[in-house]
Amino acid sequence: MLIRNRPDIVPSEITSRQVYEGRRAFVRNLGRAAFAAAVPAVPAWAQPGPKLAGVKASTYSTIEKPTPYKDVTTYNNFYEFGTDKGDPVQYAKTLKARPWSVVVEGAVKKPRTFAIEDLLKLAGMEERVYRMRCVEGWSMVIPWTGYPLAELIRQVEPAGNAKFVEFITLADKAQMPGLHVPALAWPYVEGLRMDEAMHPLTLLTFGVYGELLPNQNGAPVRLAVPWKYGFKSGKSIVKIRFTEQMPQTSWNRAAPQEYGFYSNVNPAVDHPRWSQATERRIGEDGFFQKKRQTLPFNGYADQVASLYAGMDLKKLF
Ligand code: MTE
Repeated sequence: MLIRNRPDIVPSEITSRQVYEGRRAFVRNLGRAAFAAAVPAVPAWAQPGPKLAGVKASTYSTIEKPTPYKDVTTYNNFYEFGTDKGDPVQYAKTLKARPWSVVVEGAVKKPRTFAIEDLLKLAGMEERVYRMRCVEGWSMVIPWTGYPLAELIRQVEPAGNAKFVEFITLADKAQMPGLHVPALAWPYVEGLRMDEAMHPLTLLTFGVYGELLPNQNGAPVRLAVPWKYGFKSGKSIVKIRFTEQMPQTSWNRAAPQEYGFYSNVNPAVDHPRWSQATERRIGEDGFFQKKRQTLPFNGYADQVASLYAGMDLKKLF
């Protein structure tokens, strides 16, 4: 089992990004006028972002070594800003994360629009270090900050016929150059079954490495669903809709034979064009680095396998 309880960790021990990376001195120097001329232009990924306060450690964190901040924030999928991994960090500067609001509607008793400031205060923030596995065969370990999506869901009181939750993300051509290319049907839409959305591992995410999310990682609010392939974790969410019917998601619509609705990480079910049995951990890509075995449900089987009891996961992939 890869998830361990960490009762020994107190909030004050949560390390900042700089501590993780051992870059304290570097950052201090950035602030000193005397060094200004000597310091080269600071790349976007190295700019320290605003800190999130009052964050607690979580017992749901893996103890695996986090992927370096640089990789987490420069090797991204965010097709609204281009289809290359390096595009989002370069082009997402135009995303305006404030003002921002999230509409919550559909089969709920209390539909509501949340300003991002209210969402940030809705529940206590936790740092959750999650393994994330992309459908393309690479993985990272990412310290996210957020709280369970269930906290938000409880506020709006789903109606009896709410079976699924649809996540609709921003689609604004003025801010997102990738929308001029029909790579996917915009807006980017994802979905979860209600029990998946309510699961304590499903994190409504506002930060990474203790800082507010950089634009390329889905500012100001995204999902992190660690037992599913990365594309289920929609970025820059503007609408959450509760439905009776299974939502049609962007990737399922684009290639239904390749991307199912569930998309649970499953080494036993290959993508039609490649195996899913192993993965490459970003940040440890040396020539002799062996690939890692991919684990069922990305190593979270103890927590989530019961959600799928009795289902044929080869058919419902
Ligand atoms: N959300 C939106 N809106 N647009 C996207 O293109 N890409 C998905 C997911 N969420 C995507 C998205 C995919 S394919 C992955 S692997 C993850 O975001 C990557 O998240 P990260 O760049 O923060 O690691």
